[in-house]
Amino acid sequence: MLELHEGLVGDRALARPDTYAGRNLGAYLLWWWPQTYLKVQATLGMVSLPRRPRILDVGSGPAPAAIAAIDLLGGEATCFDASEAALAEARALGIERTTRVLPREGFDLTLAANVLSELPDPLALVRGLQGTVAIVEPALRETGRALLSLRDALLREGWFALAPCFTQAPCPALASARDWCTAEVRWHPPPFFRQLAEATGLRADEMLSFAPLVLGRAAPGSERDLWRVVGVPPAEKGKKRVWICGPEGRLPLVRLDRDRRPRNTPFDELRRGDRVRLHGTERRGDGLRLDPESKIERA
Ligand SMILES: C[S@@+](CC[C@H](N)C(=O)[O-])C[C@H]1O[C@@H](n2cnc3c(N)ncnc32)[C@H](O)[C@@H]1O
Repeated sequence: MLELHEGLVGDRALARPDTYAGRNLGAYLLWWWPQTYLKVQATLGMVSLPRRPRILDVGSGPAPAAIAAIDLLGGEATCFDASEAALAEARALGIERTTRVLPREGFDLTLAANVLSELPDPLALVRGLQGTVAIVEPALRETGRALLSLRDALLREGWFALAPCFTQAPCPALASARDWCTAEVRWHPPPFFRQLAEATGLRADEMLSFAPLVLGRAAPGSERDLWRVVGVPPAEKGKKRVWICGPEGRLPLVRLDRDRRPRNTPFDELRRGDRVRLHGTERRGDGLRLDPESKIERA
């Protein structure tokens, strides 16, 4: 597990198809499988999707994304991967259709979890996909920023960003080399996972971070005053800021401690990936200000 962690999250030397066999595949099933399951369900939860879709899972590995989607939405899935050993695990977990040749037609929802950053030309792959495309990538800066560049390239070609974005403009996070966009999901893992976390010192037993993106071919409805929380830095003396992203760009939402009121207390609980609706905020030099009269709701 530690070797695979270093090879996927550290130097990324193992981010390639021949990794997914033998003991690396065993480690993947134990440690990453449940994490992908949660991240994919959290990503799909950001959009409204039809029930019982025909699902394609691209770079499925042992199918955590496909199974997460089926559990959430119903439907049936085809798993595509270069690794026959990984596809054998997918079949053992109940996926009937697996293939080593990318199918092109007949899908409503395509999943691509933690695979784009292993491909030489991810844009060429996504361009040819059908239906709604839900992508999850690691929450690393390099892979996260590559995902945002891919988003911008596809939007220029006529795709729409359905989540996490509330804007179809070029991604504002790319304006600064330090920014990218991640969400988080909290969970109570099973005992075996806690034991693995304890034994290895790896941290994934409370909060999982990931970079989500959902793309579609039709424009999403526009809702006013909606923002995505994209960063929650530690509180500062006398005030707290969270980074939010919406049609006006990526900016800090600021509340001074003395302006804390019942109508703005949801601000205290915000996490990356949350949707919020803001009322009565004001633009100031340091960002968008929550005043005593402003209201914030989780949406
Ligand atoms: C990090 S694993 C992700 C597995 C699963 N989607 C998940 O998120 O847990 C990457 C998978 O992509 C597959 N893969 C990488 N490059 C591929 C390619 N060119 N064609 C097909 N599959 C590929 C690998 O075999 C591996 O199973």
